[in-house]
Amino acid sequence: MRDALGSVQSVLVLGGGSDIARAVVRALVAERTRTVLLGARDPGKLDEEIEALRALGAETVEAFAFDADDPGSHERALGEAFARHGDVDVVLVAFGVLGDQEMLKRDPAAAVAHVQTNFTGAVSALLVAAERLKAQGHGSLVVLSSVSAERPRRSNFVYGASKAGLDAFAQGLGDELAGSGVHVMVVRPGMVRTKMTAGLEDVPFTTTPEKVASEVVKGLRRGAHTVWVPPVLRLVFTGLRHLPRPVFRRLDL
Ligand SMILES: NC(=O)c1ccc[n+]([C@@H]2O[C@H](COP(=O)([O-])OP(=O)(O)OC[C@H]3O[C@@H](n4cnc5c(N)ncnc54)[C@H](OP(=O)(O)O)[C@@H]3O)[C@@H](O)[C@H]2O)c1
Repeated sequence: MRDALGSVQSVLVLGGGSDIARAVVRALVAERTRTVLLGARDPGKLDEEIEALRALGAETVEAFAFDADDPGSHERALGEAFARHGDVDVVLVAFGVLGDQEMLKRDPAAAVAHVQTNFTGAVSALLVAAERLKAQGHGSLVVLSSVSAERPRRSNFVYGASKAGLDAFAQGLGDELAGSGVHVMVVRPGMVRTKMTAGLEDVPFTTTPEKVASEVVKGLRRGAHTVWVPPVLRLVFTGLRHLPRPVFRRLDL
């Protein structure tokens, strides 16, 4: 349960090794979050981060096994984490893959696997997490979508389509949960400098994991349903979304 000042006391991350998730968790710990549960495919890889979070003031920090590509395991993985800690204020869905569009276009099986991680894996994880939060009567689901969800571009339309599916699902889930005590916040960053984008050239409005974290913390404080990072991308992508197709096709996107 959030404390008397509305600060988040506990956070559970799915995709606990994500650079953006790491920045969000550190920002929350700086604001008095004391319990951190990190779900990752290889929890052993998070030992250093667990120590770092303890040094920053978190009291209970644990990693547990979570694989987005194995939806059959989600009920048990999240059930055990909730059972061990009782109450979770925020579930952050941070796992995802960017992939190489040229390779994905040539390999339909790889494209399907990509969409399964980003979209159907998240569908399962979100439904399981939503049920747990509903049962405790409160909590926020924070979903890392992308500006790509607003209008998929030809240069990465497989990723864009997977994020569009995730984004639509999260919005619908948020509408369905309105009034239940459970809040869904969709986060749409532009390009962020993380290991996912390592080696790629910056694009206009490229940002940092810390900036995403700061907007997530602000969004949680005000109960936002959608957060753009940086915020100006809301205007940029609203414009792009409404461009007539022949004009959109002429853009080098
Ligand atoms: N970076 C950007 O420009 C950007 C922009 C907009 C949105 N986003 C989204 O923000 C989220 C976090 O991205 P990031 O930049 O922080 O990337 P990141 O550092 O590469 O983190 C992605 C994480 O996803 C995990 N993951 C991948 N497949 C998984 C699976 N099947 N099961 C469980 N975990 C899995 C990876 O775990 P392993 O350590 O096991 O590989 C990794 O920790 C993603 O959803 C991404 O699409 C990123």
